[in-house]
Amino acid sequence: MSEEILYDDQAVGFLEELWGEGFLSPGGPEEVAKVVQGVELKGKKILDIGCGSGAIAVLFAKVFEAAKVVGIDVEAPVCEVARRRVAKAGLEGTVEIIQVTPGPMPFDDEVFDVVFSKDSIIHIPDKVSLAAEVFRVLKPGGMFAASDWLTNHDGEMSPEMAHYVKMEDLEFQMASPAKYRSAMEAAGFEQVELVDRNPWYSEVSAAELAELTGPNRSGWAERHGEEFIAHQIEIWSAMQPVLKSGEHCPHHIRGRKPE
Ligand SMILES: C[S@@+](CC[C@H](N)C(=O)[O-])C[C@H]1O[C@@H](n2cnc3c(N)ncnc32)[C@H](O)[C@@H]1O
Repeated sequence: MSEEILYDDQAVGFLEELWGEGFLSPGGPEEVAKVVQGVELKGKKILDIGCGSGAIAVLFAKVFEAAKVVGIDVEAPVCEVARRRVAKAGLEGTVEIIQVTPGPMPFDDEVFDVVFSKDSIIHIPDKVSLAAEVFRVLKPGGMFAASDWLTNHDGEMSPEMAHYVKMEDLEFQMASPAKYRSAMEAAGFEQVELVDRNPWYSEVSAAELAELTGPNRSGWAERHGEEFIAHQIEIWSAMQPVLKSGEHCPHHIRGRKPE
């Protein structure tokens, strides 16, 4: 991971307008609810890895009635925005945002009931170490419930995929469902499940591109800058063929730490 800020104020402003206030990934509260469907959150202690600008951590405290939510992120600007969101919601006693450095997490063993992450593990190159760290900080019987952007193979990227990843310029470290599964099983997780969300995001992403290129384009350009929006359109256009081919395949990922 470089020292460069990837999610700066301009990127955050754009993504939050596209995906909802406090969300730096698609789907909003409905998609989060799907990621954690059937996982008990009420009264639990939750870790959110890559919490971004904090809407999900607030959602867990406010709507899902978690007892404590710890959101961690590596970038200072998003942590600041997240802290402001927590304060505005009056949840400072329940939600804590901690800026961390990549690598081992600053927590004791077996302290969280649930570890959550949404579309952030894509930035973490070593899925094996990450899975082992998640396993370490979970209490016995605890759940890991995440969503992330995967690729459907671990071989060389197609030219279309290489072009898309280059356009994004977000230091993506994508891996296959098989790699995630083996990392989680090696860590000790049981009941490992991966659910392909490509059909859903293919449709959503096409609608997002239509929004950016349609009659509202001039408004987007006024609010975020013509050059910036032209570049986002390039990114979203590059994304369509790799979603269509299935090479870019967002997934839900789940596993349980044995009792
Ligand atoms: C696509 S955003 C998603 C943010 C949030 N989960 C959401 O859905 O709105 C990815 C986030 O992962 C963070 N990130 C990148 N590398 C990380 C790491 N090693 N540990 C924790 N967070 C990281 C980024 O700073 C960014 O805020």
